[in-house]
Amino acid sequence: MRLVLVGPPGAGKGTQAQYIAAQFAIPKISTGDIFRANVSEGTELGMTAKKYMDAGDLVPDEVTSAMVRERLKEDDAADGFLLDGFPRTVPQAETLDEILGDLGQGLDVVLELVVDDEEVIRRLSGRRTCRNCGHIWHVDFDPPSREGICDDCGGQLFQRDDDKSDTVRHRLEVYAEQTAPLIAFYAEKGVLVGIDATGPVDDVTERAIAALRPFA
Ligand code: AP5
Repeated sequence: MRLVLVGPPGAGKGTQAQYIAAQFAIPKISTGDIFRANVSEGTELGMTAKKYMDAGDLVPDEVTSAMVRERLKEDDAADGFLLDGFPRTVPQAETLDEILGDLGQGLDVVLELVVDDEEVIRRLSGRRTCRNCGHIWHVDFDPPSREGICDDCGGQLFQRDDDKSDTVRHRLEVYAEQTAPLIAFYAEKGVLVGIDATGPVDDVTERAIAALRPFA
């Protein structure tokens, strides 16, 4: 399955990506995770991305698309993938079509996670991520059993710099202006499927898997 997850910041893309990728045995490719790994390693790509990420702005299309082009050429993506956080603009979606065309592939489905802004703000203010394995937790909605420690691997949890309330508000504006037009773009191509992404994490996962099964 070649799948794109789309939805506002905090919709639960990263959370659901963990379970969907495992269920369908496809690699999860998250542009946000790749940028954050480069930031912590202090690479040139990381230094370029950091100034945009800290401000809640998008990293320029040419930087992001070049990175995805390289990633999709890797062997583990030959038979399918889950893209989390890419594309995020209509030009990025057009580039993705080009990349897949060059590889003789096509997109099967785009899953939209639908949640409102208030829920997004509640989710992002309590998000904690494992520094070691990347597992995503929430202090109220999906807490680890020991505060600040990942249940999966014992790693330390941290709060993302871009989850501060002013930056979150700006990210929502950027989503509305630059990413939301993708919904119409993919609906027109007939590949868009939307699910209600509110309620407990497990219920959303069940809805997502049921919606995706016909494409597996
Ligand atoms: P990225 O990391 O992609 O951030 P995002 O899209 O803003 O999405 P988030 O990771 O904030 O949210 P999510 O939907 O994954 O939610 P999560 O599952 O964590 O990008 C970060 C930055 O990188 C961008 O701002 C940009 O600068 C740059 N970038 C990345 N890709 C780019 C691109 N293509 N082009 C240009 N720039 C790019 O869930 C959030 C919280 O809610 C968690 O705590 C979770 O536990 C909780 N939660 C999840 N589901 C539920 C539920 N059902 N009920 C209650 N709580 C829940």
